[in-house]
Amino acid sequence: MSSKKIQGPAVALIGCGFVADLYMRSLQSVPHVQVVGAFDIDVERAGAFSAHWGVTRFAVLEDLFAALPRDGVVLNLTNPDAHFEVNRACLQAGFHTYSEKPLAMRMDQARDLHQLASEKGLLLASAPCSVLGQAAQTLAHAVRNGVAGTPRLIYAELDDGFIPQAPVESWISESGAPWPYEDEFRVGCTLEHAGYYLGWLIAMFGTVRRVVAASGQTIPDKKGITDTAPDFSVATLFFETGPMVRLTCSIVAPHDHRIRVIGDKGVLQVKKAWANGAPVKFHKRFRIRRRLIDSPLGKRVSLHGPSHPMVGRWGAASMNFALGPVEMLGAIAENRPCRLSADFALHLNEVTLAIQNAGDQAGAQVMTTRCDPMEPMQWAR
Ligand SMILES: NC(=O)c1ccc[n+]([C@@H]2O[C@H](COP(=O)([O-])OP(=O)(O)OC[C@H]3O[C@@H](n4cnc5c(N)ncnc54)[C@H](O)[C@@H]3O)[C@@H](O)[C@H]2O)c1
Repeated sequence: MSSKKIQGPAVALIGCGFVADLYMRSLQSVPHVQVVGAFDIDVERAGAFSAHWGVTRFAVLEDLFAALPRDGVVLNLTNPDAHFEVNRACLQAGFHTYSEKPLAMRMDQARDLHQLASEKGLLLASAPCSVLGQAAQTLAHAVRNGVAGTPRLIYAELDDGFIPQAPVESWISESGAPWPYEDEFRVGCTLEHAGYYLGWLIAMFGTVRRVVAASGQTIPDKKGITDTAPDFSVATLFFETGPMVRLTCSIVAPHDHRIRVIGDKGVLQVKKAWANGAPVKFHKRFRIRRRLIDSPLGKRVSLHGPSHPMVGRWGAASMNFALGPVEMLGAIAENRPCRLSADFALHLNEVTLAIQNAGDQAGAQVMTTRCDPMEPMQWAR
């Protein structure tokens, strides 16, 4: 396929399923980024997607590689089982690669990708990118500036409700892709979701030294599917420096996406993990006579000035999925380190897999990878 010359920041999509529509909606909020086109092994899906969004459909992966400029970024939006192979193919073809989570389903594969990217001098990043969003950056800013005093303990919840009873068969994306519930049940809510708060936590505090976790299946049969991953996990995270953290993931317990940073002066709280614009509130602690109270009302903590484009709507669709690719394109153009570094992606992958695979026997797991806290966004300093 012959390619016309693309000027400026550009991305190409591999995988045209449910999440690809959320990326397209998000990419519309950053019109300086061109979408060169998309490829999917499912020809029918690729056709429906390209017709809906008016983007080029590549017949084979090589056509996508031929069309994307070298300083562009490939977005790997395939199913988790395909991530390793597709990420490797993109890096081997010489392209900066942004992978949906997880980077890979096994740590040896994730390490191979990390090494390949480093050998080739390419950026490798993994979702989620909500860590670059307003809520995460505001929370990190408040923690850095001691709004709640020294943070002592963090509770982070990613409970999604009793999903196996939800009408998941009727969840359809904008261009008509069904929500892949069978795949979601097999991959599991920890691999799918832990990263949303792990990313925020690792960005604030850096390396997790030790993970003490348990995971298991509370519902053996989910819509007739029995070979599923853990639907519940709970982890205690010990950072090299930073407070202790408890992180919970489930598709069983009632919906709760709160993160609470408990400090000496009170509690910082965000109630929505997926809404970039979710308010960050400080609940000051005070004494009234013989009682100790964390203010139930909470005072909003805000950064001054604009942050980034919001995409609105609800649930996962209130995250701007373009923030990660835009950060990579910025790092490439400015020849600076990318906040979503390969070290960050590898460490996130290791901690997530440690929680997912903990079962009832793992005990304390010592992490072997490390990464530094993340540089705040320019507008959040
Ligand atoms: N569904 C969501 O709400 C959601 C939200 C955030 C992130 N994600 C992540 O996005 C990724 C994709 O999820 P999804 O819900 O879009 O799944 P999906 O099944 O709807 O879409 C995945 C698409 O990738 C294609 N594909 C698979 N292997 C391929 C390959 N080797 N080459 C090219 N195309 C290939 C499939 O044909 C399919 O169309 C997952 O990693 C998931 O964790 C999903």
